[in-house]
Amino acid sequence: MKGIFISIEGMDGSGKSTQIKYMKDFFEARGHSVLHTREPGGTAIGEKIRELVLNNDYQEMSDITEALLYAASRAQHVKEVIRPALNEGKIVLCDRYVDSSMVYQGSGRGLGYEAIKSINDFATSCLTPDLTILFDIEPQMSLQRINIGEEGDRLERETLDFHVKAHSAYMELANMYAERIKVIKANRVIEEIRGDVEQLLEKLLKGGM
Ligand code: ADP
Ligand code: TYD
Repeated sequence: MKGIFISIEGMDGSGKSTQIKYMKDFFEARGHSVLHTREPGGTAIGEKIRELVLNNDYQEMSDITEALLYAASRAQHVKEVIRPALNEGKIVLCDRYVDSSMVYQGSGRGLGYEAIKSINDFATSCLTPDLTILFDIEPQMSLQRINIGEEGDRLERETLDFHVKAHSAYMELANMYAERIKVIKANRVIEEIRGDVEQLLEKLLKGGM
C-alpha cells in the first residue's frame, strides 16, 4: 500500500475534529490527497450501525453486541473505504479506530483487550495505522467541553467512572504501543496543539517516526 494511515484518538471533546481539519490542511498544502473519515460510520452500512449503536432507545444492548457492532462497522469501512484509499496513495485521517474499541469496550465495558483485539484483527485483517495521535485530556474536562446533559448519545451519557476508566486505558495503550501512539496534551490552546501535531506530521513525512 502506498498511502499513509493515521488514526486520531481521545475522549469525546478532546479536540479531535478541530485538529483533524488542520491536519487535512497541512497535508493538502503539501500536495497530498487526503481522505477524512470517522468511526463508527464512514460507509452507508457503517452510518446505519452508528445510528443503532449510539441510539439511546437501546439501553438493553449487551456489551458483546456493542463490541461486535463497532467491529462490523469497521470491517466495512476498511474494505470499502480505507484500503482502497491507501492503495490510491492517499493520506487517510480516521477519527477513531481499533484503539477506541480497546478503550471503551475492552476496558470501559470490561470485555478485556484480548477479546477486542481478536475480533478487530478479524474485522480489519490486522490493518494497523502507521501513526495514531492521541489527544490526552482529563475526563472531567472533556465532559465539560461537550456539556452533554440530556443531549448526549448512549456512550456520552455513561457515568464519569466509565470515562475515567477509558482515560486510563488510553494511557495504558499509549505505553503498550509507544512506537505507534503519540500522545499530545489537549488541555492547551488550539494553536499550541496544532503546532505539536504539525511537528509530528513533518517527522512522519520525512520517514522519521
Ligand atoms: P472531539 O471531536 O474530540 O469530540 P471537538 O474538536 O469537537 O472534539 O471539540 C469539542 C469542543 O471543544 C468544541 O466545542 C471545540 O470548539 C472545543 N475545543 C476544541 N479544542 C479546544 C481547545 N484546545 N481548547 C478549548 N476548547 C476546545
Ligand atoms: P464519536 O463519533 O467520536 O462521537 P461524537 O460525534 O459525539 O464526538 O464517537 C461516538 C462514540 O462511540 C464515542 O462516545 C466513542 C464510542 N466508540 C466506542 O465506544 N467504540 C468504538 O470502537 C468507537 C469507534 C467509538
